Amino acid sequence: MRTDAARPVRLEDYRPPDWLVETVDLDVALDPSATRVRATLRLTPNPQAAAPAPVVLDGDGLTLTGLKLDGAALAPAHFAATPDRLTIAQPPNRPFRLEVETVIDPSANTQLMGLYRSRGTYCTQCEPEGFRRITYFPDRPDVMAVFTTRIEAPKAQAPVLLANGNLVQSGDVAGTDRHFAVWHDPFPKPSYLFALVGGELACVEDGLRTASGREVTLRIYVEPGKQGRCAYAMDSLKRAMRWDEEAFGREYDLDIFMIVAVSDFNMGAMENKGLNVFNDKYVLATPETATDADFANIEAIIAHEYFHNWTGNRITCRDWFQLCLKEGLTVFRDQEFSADQRSRPVERINDVRGLRAHQFVEDAGPLAHPVRPALYHEINNFYTATVYEKGAEVVRSLKVLLGPDGFRRGMDLFFARHDGTAATVDDFIACFADATGTDLGQFMRWYSQAGTPELAVTGSFDARAGTYRLDVAQTVPPTPGQPVKEPMVIPLALGLVGRDGRDLPLVTADGRQLERGVATISEAAQRLEFVGIAERPVLSLNRGFSAPIKVSANISAEDLSFLAARDPDPFNRWQAVQTLATAVLVENVAALRAGRAERADDGFLAAIAAILADTTLEPAFVAAAITLPSEADIARDIGRDVDPDAILAARAALRATIGRRFAAVLDELHGRLADSGPYSPDAASAGRRTLKNACLDLMAATGAASAVALAARQYAAADNMTDRMAALATLSLLDVAERAAALDDFYRRFEDDPLVIDKWFSLQATIPQAATLDRVRALTAHPKFSAANPNRVRALVGAFAHGNQTQFNRPDGAGFAFVVDTVLALDARNPQVAARLLSAFKSWRVLEAGRRACAEAALKRVAAVDTLSRDVKDIAQRSLAGD
Ligand code: BES
Ligand code: ZN
Repeated sequence: MRTDAARPVRLEDYRPPDWLVETVDLDVALDPSATRVRATLRLTPNPQAAAPAPVVLDGDGLTLTGLKLDGAALAPAHFAATPDRLTIAQPPNRPFRLEVETVIDPSANTQLMGLYRSRGTYCTQCEPEGFRRITYFPDRPDVMAVFTTRIEAPKAQAPVLLANGNLVQSGDVAGTDRHFAVWHDPFPKPSYLFALVGGELACVEDGLRTASGREVTLRIYVEPGKQGRCAYAMDSLKRAMRWDEEAFGREYDLDIFMIVAVSDFNMGAMENKGLNVFNDKYVLATPETATDADFANIEAIIAHEYFHNWTGNRITCRDWFQLCLKEGLTVFRDQEFSADQRSRPVERINDVRGLRAHQFVEDAGPLAHPVRPALYHEINNFYTATVYEKGAEVVRSLKVLLGPDGFRRGMDLFFARHDGTAATVDDFIACFADATGTDLGQFMRWYSQAGTPELAVTGSFDARAGTYRLDVAQTVPPTPGQPVKEPMVIPLALGLVGRDGRDLPLVTADGRQLERGVATISEAAQRLEFVGIAERPVLSLNRGFSAPIKVSANISAEDLSFLAARDPDPFNRWQAVQTLATAVLVENVAALRAGRAERADDGFLAAIAAILADTTLEPAFVAAAITLPSEADIARDIGRDVDPDAILAARAALRATIGRRFAAVLDELHGRLADSGPYSPDAASAGRRTLKNACLDLMAATGAASAVALAARQYAAADNMTDRMAALATLSLLDVAERAAALDDFYRRFEDDPLVIDKWFSLQATIPQAATLDRVRALTAHPKFSAANPNRVRALVGAFAHGNQTQFNRPDGAGFAFVVDTVLALDARNPQVAARLLSAFKSWRVLEAGRRACAEAALKRVAAVDTLSRDVKDIAQRSLAGD
């Protein structure tokens, strides 16, 4: 067992390492159950630390089989080895060579951390603390070493042998059936970026000449037979590499870049230096098996992991508290890439929808924490929406605040100043302060204060004076451990829209134009005034979502309808429709619960009409605008005493109202948008399909027989997964015979393709009907389901817990009980996946009293188990804290 003596870990306790590792020579002899690892470390005392200090190396479940210091075996009296620590109390006070031998069992590794096997392939996952499951090592990101890796294996078992860096040697082991490969990575890196792969893999190869003229080999390794599904991933990689050169001046730095796709992976993908390992779900795609969303995800994740080469690898994190330094920044970079490759407004809308759905919920619940946490019990639980998505928003806010040129100067300085080092968030922000001469002291609160800031804005027009005044009050709500907050610096992009739909000039009393249309809010209460305003304008706030905040303002429904039709900022056009829809839905939820009649809001329907009539809009934007806020969005807005059944009913009713009111337009659009040529995954084609399928969904929401028939026809005739899946999803919401028929057909068509069967699992798990829980339970015994595979677990149980509001939150508590049973069963096998599943309880406190009591009982049942992993225990305890 791991000891928890050093827990919790606190940011304020950071100390530089006592010992540095200059080089690591790994010699790994792969074997299914007894892989031998010899690690030779060149250790030197850290000049920055107080010498002399003992050498303390991390381990996790290790067995030591040999130990030598400068070539001589170390006597047992001179060291202490436990499964989780190797200590040499009195090492020489000078550089020395330590040879550590361990034997590990990759086939028994069900946690998928360290060295494990996925369908026979040997692979590794080391971030954040998995390297210590391979060998004893100072497994912390501020110890950066040059790695050389020799891998040896039986040729028949593992014809392909890969590790980080460049291949320097390979060949047969004379007189045996074994072979070997030696890989050398010249760039010093922390242990979490180490990777090796061995197995029977096929590869697709391509190449790219970098901006400075170096030739780089690109390879994607997959299970033999799947090479035909890698084209989009390879194309995405090349576009990402080019984009980083153009947008950030960053070139690739090794001779080869490799991606390996594996079927068993805890996360999406991992940025190991020169050897990214991917969940195959984010590599493999064909039009028949992957949806437009899958293609977009592949593009984004390939780019994300590639971009880490500079933001994460060349410049890494000093400690895990600085995780957002690499993750938030890299998410920002992949979002910008996708915005440049696709439609900027539509990408922005989707990113903000994701942020609100995941991060705002987290920030408002028991698991709220700052972008840079100050304390953790289990670092694996801090790869969160807050670190990733809010972390990206903070970088974007910085760009809004400084402008594109200032931002670029800061990034350039960051790369120049910190290349080859392990840096902190403070280092990062200091680069922007220094490059632009800006004091960013108050800006740092974005990293230390949790909770979503709220702005209350009152706009008032003074016709006589020709002025428009904004009174702005900001608050940051209390969060666990942080009862009182200080004001934030908020870059607030805004506009005053004239009656003709054009922005009025924003001139302040001193005669100056508001630069880039961005006001800086930094006080708890602040007043802004604009002069020379001849007519009453309509206020457009937080344009492009310039800061990750909640805004409330005295903007009438009439003005919102105007913004929906006329705001020059496309994001705020979408936002205006959403705000109108949310108001109607929240009111109707209350009406339903009180037994009153719902209302069909004419202002909202007029806004939908205006969007549908505007032929200048791109289809993907129209689709986003006519899609109602999700059940989770509505729940978040209601915020307390939430009844998911009433939310589902109100939303279904409004969808049906839209479907009836615009039946003819929707039907005409659906027909007009049908693809004429062969499938292409590009953004414009995908956007047309998104709108076509949004129309289908609204038509079917009425339950009209013609719409059901249309969906069934689309399902059967589809030549691509996007249209087939959309039709199936539409049918899945209806209690009609066509639903079961289509689900059976889908299974028969794709039963041999696990990634497609995952869609089939997810769809059934998200049907909002009482029968779903029994169905999901039954599917856990289906031959295609496996609790050992994280994708299967997420597709079935994860989709139920995170994606089925009414059934996970069943009033009888059976949904909670089922998920808790799954978490407890899974915990012994894979704590990381179990803990993520348990985080579905992150907003249990907002539920109405009956459901809340059931959720609390379920969480308490978890907390009461005394054999919990650290991962699950941490989530259970924090979810319950404050009780
Ligand atoms: N470094 C992470 C992978 C990771 C996450 C390793 C958690 C260990 C623990 C990688 O760069 C990453 O962020 N992957 C994301 C996808 C990305 C596009 C946001 C993932 O795996 O979900
Ligand atoms: Zn990442």
